[in-house]
Amino acid sequence: MSNPPLLAFIGGGNMARALIGGLIENGHAADAILVSEPDAGTAARLQRDFGVRLATDNKEAATAADVVVLAVKPQQLARVCAAIAPAVQRGRPLLISIAAGIRERSIEEWLGGDVMLVRCMPNTPALVGAGMTGLHAGPGVDAVGRALAERILGAVGEVLWVEEESLLDAVTAVSGSGPAYYFLFMEAMIDAGERLGLSREAATRLTLQTALGAARMARAGDEPPGVLRQRVTSPGGTTEQALRHFEQGGLRELVVEALRKARDRSIELSDQLAGSA
Ligand SMILES: NC(=O)c1ccc[n+]([C@@H]2O[C@H](COP(=O)([O-])OP(=O)(O)OC[C@H]3O[C@@H](n4cnc5c(N)ncnc54)[C@H](OP(=O)(O)O)[C@@H]3O)[C@@H](O)[C@H]2O)c1
Repeated sequence: MSNPPLLAFIGGGNMARALIGGLIENGHAADAILVSEPDAGTAARLQRDFGVRLATDNKEAATAADVVVLAVKPQQLARVCAAIAPAVQRGRPLLISIAAGIRERSIEEWLGGDVMLVRCMPNTPALVGAGMTGLHAGPGVDAVGRALAERILGAVGEVLWVEEESLLDAVTAVSGSGPAYYFLFMEAMIDAGERLGLSREAATRLTLQTALGAARMARAGDEPPGVLRQRVTSPGGTTEQALRHFEQGGLRELVVEALRKARDRSIELSDQLAGSA
């Protein structure tokens, strides 16, 4: 393996751009990043903004690389894998797939079997460097491969390994879809603030800064969120009134059911993607 390892991105869209930006910020040499992206404008912007090298096609990128990051849309992955399979079998790079819902077995089959593959489930806050990625390592991946995958996905946030690939469906339900749950809650609080007489602008500022503050407290402290909640809830006070209303309305059960539905949909979509390839 070259030092630094040569990383090839197949697909240079939003997620690849975020990863490349994070890697460069963390000191990865730009000339050790190779991008294969069919849209000439997108490719040129990556080269201009980060100084990365451009490959003429996916085969060239996969042939040269120590690590191949599969960053195309899930529906494009079967075709991409078929084209790079001979290069992967020859060079045996570490493969990192960020394609949502495509199972390791499918990728391995498309690449001709027996590959070193890490499957990841990132989320959209990766685009602002605050991502959360669940990772699963296939059987061929050693400690060096795991460390490399952590370094790449860790460039845009936090990483968490799961021991069973099927747990990536639960990761999808919690952190993959999770940002939208918080956005929904923010929307609801902004609307409520407005109904209580605040301007939309004031309700928005109050809500967003409160969300950030609560997240930072929850991340910074040694206490779990439940303890933090109790600390800010004085008996007979205002917070208690609101929280009781949430509890009586079945918020916790609603959350469990919502996440179960997201997890089940993730499984269903993966089944469809496996069937349609
Ligand atoms: N964005 C997220 O927050 C997020 C979260 C979790 C997982 N993911 C996963 O990350 C992957 C990438 O998502 P994204 O949001 O970055 O999508 P994207 O912006 O559409 O990026 C995909 C890129 O791949 C290019 N491409 C298409 N066909 C190709 C081919 N045959 N060879 C090489 N490149 C090709 C596309 O070019 P054209 O535009 O010219 O087609 C596009 O620039 C997806 O599989 C998605 O499931 C994304």
